[in-house]
Amino acid sequence: MAKQYSEMSKAELSQLNSELQKQYDEIVESGISLDLSRGKPSKEQLDLSEELFTALNSSSQCISSTGFDVRNYGLLQGVEEARQLFGQLLGVPAENILVGGNSSLTMQYDAFARCMLFGVGEHRMSWMKQGDAKILCPAPGYDRHFAICEEFRTPMIPVRLTGHGPDMDQVEELVANDPTIKGLYCVPKYSNPTGETYDEKTVRRIAELKPAAKDFRVFWDNAYLYHDFGKVTEVANIFDYTNGTENEDMVYEFFSTSKITFPGSGVAVMASSKANIDFAIKHMSVQSINADKVNQMRQVLYLKSPENVREHMKKHAAILKPKFELVEQKFHEAFDGTGIATWTEPDGGYFISLDIFPNTAKTTFNLCKAAGLKITGAGATFPYKKDPDSKNLRICPSYASAEDLAKACDVLAVCAKLAATRRLLELE
Ligand SMILES: Cc1ncc(COP(=O)(O)O)c(C=O)c1O
Repeated sequence: MAKQYSEMSKAELSQLNSELQKQYDEIVESGISLDLSRGKPSKEQLDLSEELFTALNSSSQCISSTGFDVRNYGLLQGVEEARQLFGQLLGVPAENILVGGNSSLTMQYDAFARCMLFGVGEHRMSWMKQGDAKILCPAPGYDRHFAICEEFRTPMIPVRLTGHGPDMDQVEELVANDPTIKGLYCVPKYSNPTGETYDEKTVRRIAELKPAAKDFRVFWDNAYLYHDFGKVTEVANIFDYTNGTENEDMVYEFFSTSKITFPGSGVAVMASSKANIDFAIKHMSVQSINADKVNQMRQVLYLKSPENVREHMKKHAAILKPKFELVEQKFHEAFDGTGIATWTEPDGGYFISLDIFPNTAKTTFNLCKAAGLKITGAGATFPYKKDPDSKNLRICPSYASAEDLAKACDVLAVCAKLAATRRLLELE
């Protein structure tokens, strides 16, 4: 077992630093080119959905159950079959489902933009006109959520994560006392990047929030709802707690088939109250006559049923799980006993969150970059890229081959250790 770095004498640290520097120089000389930054499916995973190409191959399949020819203009809320299937997948009635184009991120951006420009519904003043709308952002979190807030210049307030969702004492207190706090971002299952799933109590407390802002909204990004590696982790259906209450309109849920079939060619979904769906459609009808309904039909014909989606996701899991296990094994080998790193070992999703020695994330990132290993930018997992401890790195095991993944973890470990010894020597 390695010795804790913090217990090493200056001489021991210097010695270790020299050894690590030598290992690092050898890596640089070997000229690697590796990437741990891509949270996207591998080719092998994409090949799982090969039959999507032939699932819809005749015009007769384009007539929906309502008799509508999906090749033609119309049905802005989405094809009936698609709304039925996604309703079943998300546990909401089809009338509360809006099926769109390929990207749930686009839907989230549009939903946010509508709040900013038009408010949250009829008779509500736009967030923008009210002045300083602020958004609560559990962190570490998804950088693209933060990017949406930055785009609209909506100040972000970071919220602690507890391992089973946001710190609800903090959230409740903030929203109850500040009417300028208008929103909360959530990735309730296999959160990006910590991999945590909100427990039932947290989901209920979110649903039962008593915000000072009457136009407060929860952006419930359920991107990883079906991305279990083995045992199925259940996340409570937030609408079970908001339906029929004064918070009936508070939640916009988002989902897509990006990481079920093909990212960029899947379909995205928004689930919300009927009033919210109608309000969205009213504004969307100015933007577009409809989304790609032929693709909606194709996805439904391919995915068929919730049971079939679960079976399909087991095939993704068979490819992803060994990659996550490999990273975890590599991190154990590299860091156990050193006291300089902790990491999450999620039961699903796409990310591992690695915390290294405080104030070394930037140095580690730069060392990796100079050696030919690309990792997600230091700070990217926090609003304004400000990681208060400069220690969090998002690891994406999905895309690389097992061989590259193993090499990349070795390189990352050398860089993180070298950065830690440098920092500790500075602190001496
Ligand atoms: C939490 C989360 N939401 C949304 C997305 C993107 O979804 P889509 O492809 O549907 O736009 C990602 C992609 O990594 C994600 O991690």
